[in-house]
Amino acid sequence: MENKKFYITTPIYYPSGKFHIGTAYATTLTDCIRRYKKARGYDTYMLTGLDEHGQKIQSVAEKKGVTPQEHVDEMAEKAKELWNLMDIGNNDFIRTTEERHMKSVEKIVDLFLKNGDIYKGTYEGLYCMPCENYFTETQLVDGKCPDCGREVKKMQEESYFFNMKKYENWLKEFYAENPQFIEPESRKTEIFNNFINPGLEDLCISRATFDWGIPMPNDPKHVLYVWLDALTNYITALGYMSDDDTLFKKYWPADLHIVGKEIIRFHGIYWPIFLKALGLEMPKKIYAHSWIVMKDGKMSKSVGNVIYPETLIERYGLDATKYYLLRLMSFAQDSMFTPEDFVDRFNYDLANDLGNLLNRTIGMMNKYYEGKIPTNITEKTEFDDELENYTQTQITKVEELMDSYHLSNALSEIWAIIGRTNKYIDETAPWALAKSENKEPLKSVMNHLAENLRKIAILLSPFMPQTSEKMLEQLGISNEVCSWDSMKQNDVIAEGTSVIEKGEPLFVRLDREEEIEFIKNAMKK
Ligand code: MSP
Repeated sequence: MENKKFYITTPIYYPSGKFHIGTAYATTLTDCIRRYKKARGYDTYMLTGLDEHGQKIQSVAEKKGVTPQEHVDEMAEKAKELWNLMDIGNNDFIRTTEERHMKSVEKIVDLFLKNGDIYKGTYEGLYCMPCENYFTETQLVDGKCPDCGREVKKMQEESYFFNMKKYENWLKEFYAENPQFIEPESRKTEIFNNFINPGLEDLCISRATFDWGIPMPNDPKHVLYVWLDALTNYITALGYMSDDDTLFKKYWPADLHIVGKEIIRFHGIYWPIFLKALGLEMPKKIYAHSWIVMKDGKMSKSVGNVIYPETLIERYGLDATKYYLLRLMSFAQDSMFTPEDFVDRFNYDLANDLGNLLNRTIGMMNKYYEGKIPTNITEKTEFDDELENYTQTQITKVEELMDSYHLSNALSEIWAIIGRTNKYIDETAPWALAKSENKEPLKSVMNHLAENLRKIAILLSPFMPQTSEKMLEQLGISNEVCSWDSMKQNDVIAEGTSVIEKGEPLFVRLDREEEIEFIKNAMKK
């Protein structure tokens, strides 16, 4: 029997500053896939959390004049608030400063030491004293520190290394047998060209230049490199190497790790090797998404082009924000956020196409049938079969796209159904049918409109759960005919189902110029 569990993770985020829409996108994408899998009958488990150690966090806290622990505690509350506001259904929130994580990591490192995967060596690099950081030749700017512009010095220090070379052949074989381990394909090609084919380097996994990290169990003046600490969150959160590993037994291996394209090297090379060294099963898939960029490049506070999710949610609602993020981002390429595009999509896609379809249908249902959805159709119009077949074909397409994580394309196909259904109203002209003696065709049209809106609401449920619920509520359709599989059937709405008397607009059309101005100003703050 097929194993119907689905364990999905986001990266654990650095709590160095307020989360912008890029971080919100990664979490929304993960949550949308979780909701979809849940609707398809999977027992889902979603993990997110914070990556709280390392030099970067230590220096942010120092600048703020608080301890690193005080800083991360404050940030963890804020992160949880944001995911709450965004209705993200994670099952756990792991923080790498939690004892449950740190204890397991120590045991993991002990095992690596015992098995000879970690050895002591000498790290050589170009060191910037004030920044307390090593750089490689190519990272320097005009031969100087890329961060502060000061002189760097060749230095060496005692460090611990993970023996990556030992696993190089295994890793190549693993990819040969699992060519779709990383998607999109282009990301896999990148790490092969840049890191695997030239030959793996052993990885320096300890630091002695700062102390905000997990101490090496055998040599506590060193702390663990943040990526070894961070990657293991995916298993420590499930209780791996703890007294209670029930969740680990139930959910590991992960079915999907969602990561941003810039951290694919860590997930595509080091993570499988760490797991192999622990004798654990590999995750099923890693999906590396692209970035949301702005007209002037990456989002950055100093450029004044950052947009925060709260700004959009407060003014335009949660679902409009989620819709935009998921629709914007293509599978393999960076996508540009613009205020113009945000407002246009809101007005055209949400207020016009979707909102009007619901409103027109509810209006006609009240006008012609006192709000009762006609059922048990006996006579169809000439357009009905085509609409039914088209919708079923589209549903299959959406499922295929969701299964391969092409969420933006899946939304386009859902909007194609919305467009087709709006067109069906024009084709069948219910206002003309209402005047004819034979009322059967009008009954069929109104039934088909309600049925298609029901299907659209179900399809939208992973993307815009609140909107989906509102649609079904306005239509008066009960949960019994809202399962994913119920979309494959027609004419299932129960007899006597009544729509509300006066439809409430799902999305109120925005004043284009005013709102573009609003978003632009918010970006400067
Ligand atoms: N802490 C590491 C991850 C460790 S996972 C074991 C990290 N954190 S991060 O906070 O810098 O980034 C977290 C995720 O947010 C990354 O996957 C990154 O790609 C994503 N995003 C940050 N900015 C983004 C955009 N502008 N657009 C889309 N996603 C981006 O890396």
